[in-house]
Amino acid sequence: MAFQTAKLVEVIQLGTEIAGLIDLPEKNWPLSGQYLPCQRLEGDIGGLATPLFPMLIGANRLALGALPSDWQPGDLLACTAPQGHGFHLPGSARRVGLVPYGVSPARLLTLVSDCLVQRAAVSLFTDSSMPQDVLSRVPSQVEILPMNALVEEPGWPDYLAVDMERSALSGFIDQVDPDKWRCEAEVLIFTPMPCRGVGECGVCAVRTRRGWRYACVDGPVFPLEEVVHVAR
Ligand code: FES
Repeated sequence: MAFQTAKLVEVIQLGTEIAGLIDLPEKNWPLSGQYLPCQRLEGDIGGLATPLFPMLIGANRLALGALPSDWQPGDLLACTAPQGHGFHLPGSARRVGLVPYGVSPARLLTLVSDCLVQRAAVSLFTDSSMPQDVLSRVPSQVEILPMNALVEEPGWPDYLAVDMERSALSGFIDQVDPDKWRCEAEVLIFTPMPCRGVGECGVCAVRTRRGWRYACVDGPVFPLEEVVHVAR
């Protein structure tokens, strides 16, 4: 598989996770929800590539994460092309809901700049308290509301982007009733992806309406309705 070398230029603490700025050309950046398999050229020999997601993009710099804790500025990385299916923000969306369900909002926040370009209002629904180093990076235009606000007004968003671990699906359905949402909704299923589809290891398998799918190649972003109705 073709890869390119890039340097890790800065490391940023985002709550419990670590993101890194990497000097990749913009044309090679993954889209929101996609991931970039990366491996250190020294120190990770023989190991598996780490799937890094866009976490916060600003000022023409790319932040990817979550980085392994021992990666340091100056490390050289071997990166393959972005993989997987990312989010598809409809161009007509004017009220966008972001739901980081039990996870950091950092991956979903990469959608905000596109929302603002198309003049969409953006609300972030969460019951988790956000660390200051994450909160300080939430654009001021984003309204932060409790999950209950979405439960009580399911008709507000015309596009919904959710991010959660695979194991959280049933808890999510118990808390909200996705059948009440009439809008387009997508979910990033966050799960280990050790082989990225190369070895068909099955570790990332997600049960969908179309049968079992691999998050690493068929996702990690899926239409919400494809996964919630089989997770009940
Ligand atoms: S990570 Fe092995 S099949 Fe997806």
